[in-house]
This record gives sequence, C-alpha cells and structure tokens, in this order.
Amino acid sequence: MKDIDTVNMSADDWDEQTFPRPDTNDFDQVVERAISRRGFLGGVLAFGSGAAAMGTGLLSSSSAEAQAAASRFPFTPIDIQTDHTVHVPEGYTWHTMVRWGDPLFSDADGYDVNAGGGPVEGSDRVFGENTDGMETFALGGRTILAINSEYTNRGTNLPAEQEGVPANAGDVRKLQNLQGVTVVEVAEGENGWSIVKDSPFNRRITHNTPMTIVGPAAGHDLLKTEADPTGTRSLGTMNNCGSGRTPWGTYLTCEENFNGYFGSTAETQDQKPNALVDGYARYGIGTDGWGYDYHKWDARFDTSQNPNEPHRAGWVVEIDPTDADSTPVKHTGLGRFKHENAEVVLAADGRVVVYMGDDERGEFIYKFVSNGTYAPGGSTDGLLDDGTLYVARFSDDQTGEWLPLTPETTGMESDAEIRIFARKAGSAVGATTMDRPEWISVNPHAVEGYCCLTNNRNRGVKANAGGDETPVGGPNPREVNHYGQIVRWMPHGDDHAADTFDWDLYVMAGNPTVHDDAYAGSSNITTGNMFNSPDGMAFDSTGLVWIQTDGDDDNAGDFAGMGNNQMLVGDPVTGEIARFMTGPNGCEVTGLCWSNDRRTMFVGIQHPGGSWPDGEGLPRSSVIAVKREDNAILG
Ligand code: FEO
Ligand code: CA
Ligand code: CA
Repeated sequence: MKDIDTVNMSADDWDEQTFPRPDTNDFDQVVERAISRRGFLGGVLAFGSGAAAMGTGLLSSSSAEAQAAASRFPFTPIDIQTDHTVHVPEGYTWHTMVRWGDPLFSDADGYDVNAGGGPVEGSDRVFGENTDGMETFALGGRTILAINSEYTNRGTNLPAEQEGVPANAGDVRKLQNLQGVTVVEVAEGENGWSIVKDSPFNRRITHNTPMTIVGPAAGHDLLKTEADPTGTRSLGTMNNCGSGRTPWGTYLTCEENFNGYFGSTAETQDQKPNALVDGYARYGIGTDGWGYDYHKWDARFDTSQNPNEPHRAGWVVEIDPTDADSTPVKHTGLGRFKHENAEVVLAADGRVVVYMGDDERGEFIYKFVSNGTYAPGGSTDGLLDDGTLYVARFSDDQTGEWLPLTPETTGMESDAEIRIFARKAGSAVGATTMDRPEWISVNPHAVEGYCCLTNNRNRGVKANAGGDETPVGGPNPREVNHYGQIVRWMPHGDDHAADTFDWDLYVMAGNPTVHDDAYAGSSNITTGNMFNSPDGMAFDSTGLVWIQTDGDDDNAGDFAGMGNNQMLVGDPVTGEIARFMTGPNGCEVTGLCWSNDRRTMFVGIQHPGGSWPDGEGLPRSSVIAVKREDNAILG
C-alpha cells in the first residue's frame, strides 16, 4: 500500500508517527563511498559473466553477450502513461475479470458497492477490496484463484458524512468482511475470463474466519486469550499482502501490516505506546490503531482487554483452495513479522525452503528450512513449522550468510518466543537492516533468489524500530533511497538450504534524466524503462522476471518520466528490463499469476484513482486478464 490521503495514511508513515525513530548522525552518508553508477554496479551487475562465475548455471559471458543482442521479449516496450486506464503492448489485449464488490454468490447479487461502499449484509459474499497477492490452482480442469484483499479504504466503504470513521459495530464488520482472501473459480468464455458465480469453490475468508495455530509457538502463553485459552485457535487473517504456494497445492497468504487493526480503550494505556506490552513498540502496536477503530466496537481488537490478540497475527496462513470447508492454518514456524510474501522452493535434498521479507524500513529477510523432506503424495505435516528460521546478513564483499535463530544464538528463551518476536531475534544476531523487503521470487532456471527492496527514506538517517542502525552500503547502497533496488543471492553449492551465498544487485531503479550519480540507477536503467519502488515480483516458466511497482506516480521532479505504476519484465541473464504494462493513475500494480494453460496473465490493480474501471462511481480494485491476440503462451 502507499500514501493516499490522511484517511488512508500509509502504514509505514503511521508506524513512524506512532513510534518515532531516533535520528542518527554517525552513519557515513557519502553515497559515493559505496558505489558509483558505472563503477560498483558495473561490477556487481555481472550480466551473465559474473553470475556464471558464481556457479549459478547461467550462460557464459560469450553466450550472454550473444543473447543480449537478441532480446527475449516478444513485444515492443510501451511508453509511460498518466491516464486512468491500463495499457499493454501492441498485439496484447486486456479486460477486467473481477472487481471489488462483484458478487461471488447469487444471494449477493444486490450488493451495491457505490452505496457508501455497500451494506454490511452481503459484504462477506462479494469480491474483497484492494486486491494483492494471488495464485492459480487447477482441479479437474477447473481454474481456481486465491486472491488477497490487503486492506480497505475506509473513506469509500463508509457513508461519506462519516469521513472514514466507523460509527457502529456494523461498520467495523463491513470493513472486516471486505478484507482477507477470496477463493473463486474462474472460467474463460467467448467474452474472456469471468468468475463462476456459486461455484462450490467460492469462498470468502475474512477477519473473522476460524483458523488453527500450529508450530513451535502454538499454545504458548503469549498466544492465549480469554476466548482461546489453548492458544491454538484464532479468528481471521488480516492485511493479506503477498502470497505463496506450496509444492502440495495449497495457498499461502501473508499477514503484513496487522498492527494497524489494534488499539486500546483503557485510559491507563492511553499514554506512551512504548509503555505497553513487551514487543508492542517493535511491532508498531499503539493505542489508536491505523484508524479502523476496531477496538472501539470489537473487544478482540482492544489490547486493554486482550493484550495477546496482536500476537495471533503477523503470520503466514495456509489455505486449501480446493476445499471451501477447510480450516486455514497459521504456521508459527515461519515467524511473526510484517510478512510480504512466502516463496517456497525445494532444497537439493527435498527439504522445504521458504524465503520471506519483512516489509518495514530497516527490517530483515528471513529463510525457513524444514527438518523433513517433501515427497509428492507424502505427508506434509510439519513441513512449514518443524525446522530452522534464519535471517540474512549481507557483507560488503558480496557474500552473505543465513544466521540461525535459536535460543543459543539469540539469547531468547525458547523457539516459541523467537517465532513470536522474530524481529528481536534478528536484531540479536546482527541481521542486515534492509530497504523494505517486498516480494521474493526464485528463478526456476537457476538457483538464485531475488528480493525487491522497494525504497527507504530512512536509509542512513534513522535506525529501525528496534534501534538497529541502517548504514549505507552493501545491498542498500543509497542514503534516503526513494527509488529502490532488487537484490539477488546465489546460494553456495547451488542449494537453497545452504548457509552462505554470494549476492549482487540485479537493478537499482533511478532517474538518469534527473541525476548523474547513484540516483540515476544502474546501467540497465534507461530513459525508456524508468520506474521506482519495485514491489511485486514473479518469475514465469521461461525464466523471465516480472516486476510490479508501488511508487510515486506524480511523474514530476525525481519521478519525472516514470508515469503511472507499471509492470516490467526483466531478463536475469542479460539484465535487460522493458516496460510491459501501465496501470491507471493512483493505483499500485500488485499480484500476478498465470492461467493453467499459461495463455493468460492475471494482474491486480489495487487502489486505483479516478473513475477506473467503470467510468463512473467509486474507483474499484480489480483483477485484469492479459492475453496475446494470437492466444500464444505468455510466460
Ligand atoms: Fe503490502 Fe509490502 O506491501
Ligand atoms: Ca507489496
Ligand atoms: Ca509497497
């Protein structure tokens, strides 16, 4: 999510307002020390030759050079746009498949999204708002999508005169219903893709859906509440940002800015937030919440009555999209933080590896490695819980290591406590503070992982919420970084379970028309492909990496020539990056998956502005379907 207006202040800005970070002055703030545009990056962006030397199995330098001459992109890149619609290259088409408020069931046919965002009745029977991460599943020839609804615009979902402030429990329930996850069957007909209303797979998972808690922290005292003295059952999943999928065909939804839903009604707690429960300050849990006001109408979100409830959010949740009656599962093995997405890959020996970013300024990148191994058709019990959680440390010499988070390494009491306060564990072992880790994706054609580091205006200026310094250098080489970069790592031994890796920067976004230093970006940024704030990311089956942006779309000043948020595609071997799609002004482009025949890309348009997509009424978050006119495979 991004800055919109005061009613919808970004989660990051709200966090810092609630818990101000101390200014620091002792960092080396000379960017040139770390890089120069053609110097450091010329070496770091190896474009094949360096990657081959690191043993990733990529092309040799001579073949990389040959490939660079012949782009793998089968389209003519498009220009920037500043309008209120979607643009794709010549030879491609798109149409809107589903929008916020579209009924999933016939009994919600009367839902009117324009009437103050619609009534509370039926709000859990329609497609949720602010679409984000999503994945495609196949079952018996049917196509099922699981799609996150990250947050909700209070200003548009409540009657205008309330100015975004809930006035009763019904208002809160409506906001709770419009977020979470939508599972929906879709089908392609003569008029393109549409949802299959009343499909037995259709389902809404909201802030109130029952789920179980498993893994090392399940049953811990910090997870027990009056409603659930066992600490093993919770209601709802919230702020569902990025996604993931397991090798066994389930969906992973990731809880990001969960802290904003909690507040306190007690006057005794209405003082300094850092005086609250241990861990509240590090996770940004304050007394007022982000403005949802759940705590005033739903005691579960009132920390003065239920101080442990926030500990039951901030997890990765597994959902079986093929069984609408299944109970979602919160996996504490994967740690508690502001989860962006969960990229699952198998290690050389079949152990399950999950890469995860914690999206907040100066927070960390994590990796989970299971104890057990995955075998098709075998038991999957414990594969997301029983194992080791690691955090990444990047060194300036372009090597790095995964530091295990254990009682011995962290000094913390137990595995349960380490999972619940994973951020504290990461700080204890000296993890590298990153420029807001967003999506992580693994190249299917080479043993390497990529992470979008979207931006960080505090780099070199302020510590993170735990007081860890954010020095300029390594994979975070620019002070006050408002453009972002993509770091990639190559695990040693070509094994995602390895403890060590080499790293480089795949791209540093920037603006070469405004700057002639590091802020111009890396050498694969040109006047023809400028963007800022890389966020969503996914590899396709051919080994190209698709990059979605959530940045400043003013198209002015430092961002002149970048236009609306967009989707680009990159070649990991040559470094080439080309603009494929532009979204409507005001939107974030987020969420990407392919149809099972890979002839359609499903792309999410979150919080669009203007009158998208109807030309009238409220702007509505949507999932669009992008195809080639010749119906060829596109990734
Ligand atoms: Fe929900 Fe970090 O994006
Ligand atoms: Ca994101
Ligand atoms: Ca973002």
